[in-house]
Amino acid sequence: MILKIVKYPDPVLQQPGEPVTEFNDELRQFVADMFETMYASQGIGLAAQQVGVAKRVTVIDLSQGKDPEQKLTLINPEVIFREGRQYEEEGCLSFPEIREKVVRAFKVRVRAQDANGNWFEMDGEELLSRAFQHEIDHLDGILFIFRMSALKRNLNLRKIRKMQSEGAW
Ligand code: NI
Repeated sequence: MILKIVKYPDPVLQQPGEPVTEFNDELRQFVADMFETMYASQGIGLAAQQVGVAKRVTVIDLSQGKDPEQKLTLINPEVIFREGRQYEEEGCLSFPEIREKVVRAFKVRVRAQDANGNWFEMDGEELLSRAFQHEIDHLDGILFIFRMSALKRNLNLRKIRKMQSEGAW
């Protein structure tokens, strides 16, 4: 089922996610729905807050559904190691048409549970590292506009207000 993606400034986007404690069919269906929703919007990552649910669940797939091995479900994820720096453009399904460069660690290691509750660790560099950091930020209620410089944030917030006033947001 395709879920509705909420846009900024919906307050749920800034709500830290509750840890997941029950790894049941309901959770697995929610994860499947998140993948379906992300693919329908041509995204490479989606956090539960973006479908209105403040829980620590995120899905990532850099291949956008083309390579099953790149399908990642991260439940209760944490960044446990970060190294280096990159400054690349990011977008977000909750901020349509906004793209901006954001400073991130070049490489991170995450620790997370899969949809069955099994813990695993995984390293990511470049785009995968950015996706991990962007999505785990969502689970903490942190949006990528707050990772931009104040100047860029204000420019983008003005752009959003203009789109809102034109009914285009
Ligand atoms: Ni996002």
